[in-house]
Amino acid sequence: MEQYVIKGGQRLEGEVVINGAKNAALGIIAAALMTDEQVIIENIPDVLDINVLLDALAEIGAVIERKDRHTVKIVGRVNTTKVDNESMRKMRGSYYLIGALLGKCRDAQVPLPGGCNIGSRPIEQHIKGFKALGADVDISFGMVNAKAESLKGGHIFFDIVSVGATINVMLAAALAEGQTIIENCAKEPHIVDVANFLNSMGANIKGAGTDVIRIKGVQKLHGSTYSIIPDQIEAGTFMLAAAATGGNVCIKNVIPKHLEAITAKLVEIGVEVTEEDDSVRVDASNTGRLGNTQIKTLVYPGFPTDMQPQMTTSLATCEGTSIITESIFENRFKYVDELTKMGANIKVEGNTAIINGVEKLTGATVCAPDLRAGAALVIAGLVAEGFTVVEHVEYIERGYEGFEKKLRAIGASIDKFDESDNKGIQKFKLKVG
Ligand code: EPU
Repeated sequence: MEQYVIKGGQRLEGEVVINGAKNAALGIIAAALMTDEQVIIENIPDVLDINVLLDALAEIGAVIERKDRHTVKIVGRVNTTKVDNESMRKMRGSYYLIGALLGKCRDAQVPLPGGCNIGSRPIEQHIKGFKALGADVDISFGMVNAKAESLKGGHIFFDIVSVGATINVMLAAALAEGQTIIENCAKEPHIVDVANFLNSMGANIKGAGTDVIRIKGVQKLHGSTYSIIPDQIEAGTFMLAAAATGGNVCIKNVIPKHLEAITAKLVEIGVEVTEEDDSVRVDASNTGRLGNTQIKTLVYPGFPTDMQPQMTTSLATCEGTSIITESIFENRFKYVDELTKMGANIKVEGNTAIINGVEKLTGATVCAPDLRAGAALVIAGLVAEGFTVVEHVEYIERGYEGFEKKLRAIGASIDKFDESDNKGIQKFKLKVG
């Protein structure tokens, strides 16, 4: 197992370039399967979840060619609709293969999705959508089996706002006969990105980014070249790392509009944030101790649940009491016990965390329980006095490309080691200590 070793106390300074959005890429890669023609996807992040999905595509017959680290060519001529890749069971984005294969082949057998352990994560809204298009769907032996003689446009009103269900039904409906109307849709930027990609392949999708998406099914999709939007959550994570360390960092290759909920909270606690066309500068170097705030995670454009652990962590050393309410996932405060080991004073009651700001955190060995909480523990390590070890970095690598390298380039004392590499760890400690 690999771990990060961090010596805290350095202000982050400089520039960091953000990669393409993981959660958009998952939908777009699945969508690429829906044409037999060549698709070129640019700005793909080189992270574990994406690489696992690309491997799964290759296993069902698609031709995958990495043109460079961030560009992939996909020819989605599949020879089976059964995805039996063991790794798929561990990731969430595998569910997009149901919508894509059902749309294209009218048949899909895909392992029930896993993903980060942050709540129960059912998929009944996805299934409701597929059924409204005329598919038979059942779950047996750990597989979701979806089949349709013919897929016909339908009218779907989601009971809850779901990113995954919105994208998944949009995928299947793109190749259904007639018009589909999906109401109570999620509006996250990556939903718009997947819709734009499908439209670039000849789909007819209108309204993505609003509550109602209208899709006129087409018979065939064609090849396309498309560049994925920047990752809003990676950008937000660096924004908070900069703020929490009292740093001054320019975060490049972002869409500032997508970051507004995060920017607004940073400004509220006293950080200076300057937006340019495709960058944001986060400057907390002259602000003294930051203030407190109250936040509720919400669907876009509200404060993203994927930024909740990083925000809670950043507020742990701010002045006064902050309150964070998690309204999307019921089990997303598991990392708080790890922060407590580092001296944080946070009390979790149900879906609310009450954060009493402490003067400082102190280094400890902590365990990343999932992707975003893992990133949050790294932020804690950057802020803490002394050395912090964050175990299970494989969670973090599911969604952050070269996380420790990017942090090192802006002044963090951090490196990655195998847990058995005592020599390397000692050498690092002597060097930075
Ligand atoms: N939900 C249901 N039934 C469904 C679908 C969702 O009850 O059929 C519930 C979920 O349990 C949750 C809420 O609805 O309480 C929202 O879930 P949503 O479907 O929007 O989330 P998701 O598609 O499972 C995606 C991202 C998550 C991100 C959420 C919310 C991917 C692969 N995952 O998950 O990303 O937290 O949307 O924005 O796109 C991450 O990147 O770290 C991550 C967890």
